[in-house]
Amino acid sequence: MTDWRERITVPRAPFIPPVVWVDDAATGGFSAVSRDDDHVRWHELVEADEPIITQVDDGRTPPGATGLRPSSSCSKPSLVADMLDALDVRLGHRVLEIGGGTGWNAAELATRVGPRGQIVSIEVDPDVAAAERQALRTGGYDVVVITADGLAGHAREAPYDRVIGTAAVRAIPRAWIDQAHPRGVIVTPWGTDYCNGTLLRLDVHDDGSASGRCGTNLAFMRVRGQRRDYLEPGDDELRGADRTTTARSIPEFFEMIAYSRAAFAIGLRVPRCYLTVEELAPDHRRIELHDVSSRSWARVDLLRRNEIFEVHQIGPRRLWEEVDAAYGWWLDSGRPAPDRFGLTVAENGDHSAWLDEPGEASWPLPVAAP
Ligand SMILES: C[S@@+](CC[C@H](N)C(=O)[O-])C[C@H]1O[C@@H](n2cnc3c(N)ncnc32)[C@H](O)[C@@H]1O
Repeated sequence: MTDWRERITVPRAPFIPPVVWVDDAATGGFSAVSRDDDHVRWHELVEADEPIITQVDDGRTPPGATGLRPSSSCSKPSLVADMLDALDVRLGHRVLEIGGGTGWNAAELATRVGPRGQIVSIEVDPDVAAAERQALRTGGYDVVVITADGLAGHAREAPYDRVIGTAAVRAIPRAWIDQAHPRGVIVTPWGTDYCNGTLLRLDVHDDGSASGRCGTNLAFMRVRGQRRDYLEPGDDELRGADRTTTARSIPEFFEMIAYSRAAFAIGLRVPRCYLTVEELAPDHRRIELHDVSSRSWARVDLLRRNEIFEVHQIGPRRLWEEVDAAYGWWLDSGRPAPDRFGLTVAENGDHSAWLDEPGEASWPLPVAAP
């Protein structure tokens, strides 16, 4: 495979902030690496074909403390290159980027569209946007950086030949389609509550609809405004939970939670169902399903020594049964990989997923936030 440095011309280091964050096995969270204190480690991170976490907890956690959740990053270089290939950016294009982050991707876009093109990069976090603006200015890249919620797009500079999301969405914002040229292209990480996700490439049609196929598997941080939430039932609720059993095997469970296999399809079949998996011990994984909007929840504890597993369920939805049925559907459909699925967004914003061809086996997806 070609090295990412041959696919992306803009150097990465000038866009990476002096403090970045790395997985910390000791705490289970993220700890800061400072360029001034650990020059070697910082440079290793910049050179690796890996994402670099540049902010945690929306900027609320200072260096020295433990970060809980990445909230901004510089994406994995080879994936950035794949996304730009899918976007098919040409000289002179006008491009809207949602999720400006470090500005590295925006700089590469500016290089690809040339002086007659235009890049508008929207970043929701004011501090991240200020650093992005500064890095682009210092590098001499002509990019308009807007501090705003990118789900609304940026109508003032529309229409755009290309729209690229660099944070995952569950639903395609109407504004992105409305602000794209008819016959424009939208590329974005797209996932469900259950599974995050795939690289979706949509063609925008003259009638205001858009459709396209899923591609590479990926896990991107989610846009603010489409993040997920989970339930932690109290002891009383747990005591009142329905208890059943399942004879699904451990390999079947792994297919159900591995996004390269059944999980992507399950997410498309079971809306509003957030999957969490916790490793409690080397032989004990806990799978939980959460729908905060209806206060429905399910838990299965996978213990390697068992063959029958207990299922706890709470609330009006029977989330385990929905997921189990969706897994059965995936098996019956010949175990389709994520790239056999696609999405159509109708003119009125309705989303439908399909298998193999638009309109063949299709089903509606809910788009309203829970
Ligand atoms: C994976 S990073 C983007 C990587 C970036 N393109 C780069 O080259 O460094 C995702 C970014 O999306 C931003 N973001 C999240 N929700 C957003 C929203 N609703 N509108 C605009 N930006 C958003 C985050 O603050 C974060 O900086």
